[in-house]
Amino acid sequence: MSKSILVTGGTKGIGRAILYRFAQEGFDLYTCSRSQKNLDELSEQLTSRFPGIKVCTYVADLGHKEEAKQFAAAVSSQIVPDVLVNNTGVFLPGALHNEPEGHFETTLQTNLFSAYYITRAFVEGFIRRKAGHIFSIGSIAGLTAYPNGGSYAVSKWAMLGFTKCLRQELLPHGIRVTSVLPGATLTASWEGVDLPPDRFMKPEDVAETVWSAYNLSPQSVVEEIVIRPQLGDI
Ligand SMILES: NC(=O)c1ccc[n+]([C@@H]2O[C@H](COP(=O)([O-])OP(=O)(O)OC[C@H]3O[C@@H](n4cnc5c(N)ncnc54)[C@H](OP(=O)(O)O)[C@@H]3O)[C@@H](O)[C@H]2O)c1
Repeated sequence: MSKSILVTGGTKGIGRAILYRFAQEGFDLYTCSRSQKNLDELSEQLTSRFPGIKVCTYVADLGHKEEAKQFAAAVSSQIVPDVLVNNTGVFLPGALHNEPEGHFETTLQTNLFSAYYITRAFVEGFIRRKAGHIFSIGSIAGLTAYPNGGSYAVSKWAMLGFTKCLRQELLPHGIRVTSVLPGATLTASWEGVDLPPDRFMKPEDVAETVWSAYNLSPQSVVEEIVIRPQLGDI
C-alpha cells in the first residue's frame, strides 16, 4: 500500500514544497486551503508530473473549528496518513498592545487551534498503528520575540509548546514528533517586501529538512529543526 502525507495549507509556499518533495517519493497526498481554484491547479500540476500518486484536496478554512474538524474527518474516513504536517499559518503584522481587535483570535485559531483539532483527529489511528510522524511548522518567531510580531509570535511560541507536549505524550507509542522552526522563506507571505530573493531561504530547502527528518530509522527522532537564511534573520 502507498504511503501518504497530509499537509495543511498545501497550495503555496512551504506546504506546497513539502507535497512536491513527498510526491517525488511516491506518497499519496492530502491537503486543504480556502481556494478551490488553487487546489484544482495544484492537483492538476501534481497529477500530471507524478501520474502514479493519488492527490486529494479539500476546501476548508482552518480558522474555523468546525471546518478544521470536518476536513480532518473527511480525510480520516479514508486513511490514517503516515505523515501529518500542521503547516497552515497566517501572519498579521502588529503589536500586541494596539493591533486591531480580532488579530489575536484569528491568528491563534488558524496557526495553533487548527493543529490541535487536526492532530487529535489522527492520533488514535497513529497509536493503533504504532507509527506516524507529526511535523509542526513553527517559526523562529517562536524562539525570539521581535517588535511587530504580535499575535503571530505568540501563536508560534504556543505551537512549539504544543509540539513539545505531543512529543512526550506520543513517545511510548512509536510516533515521532518534530518542530520545524524556519526563518524567512521566500513565499507568498512576503509579497510586496522589497528585498533580494537571495536574502531568503527557498521553501524547497525547508521541505528537504522535513524529508530528511522523516527518513531516519524508527529509533531516532529529530525533535527540532531550526533553519535560517545563511545571512541571518530579516
Ligand atoms: N514564509 C516564511 O518566511 C515563514 C517563516 C517561518 C514560518 N513560516 C510558517 O510556515 C507556514 C507556511 O507559510 P508560507 O510562508 O508557506 O505561507 P503561504 O505561502 O502564505 O501559504 C499558506 C498556505 O496555507 C493556506 N492557508 C492560509 N490560511 C488558511 C486557512 N485559514 N485555512 C486553510 N488554509 C489556509 C494557504 O492557502 P489559502 O490562502 O488559499 O487558504 C496556503 O496554501 C506557516 O505556518 C508560517 O507561519 C513561514
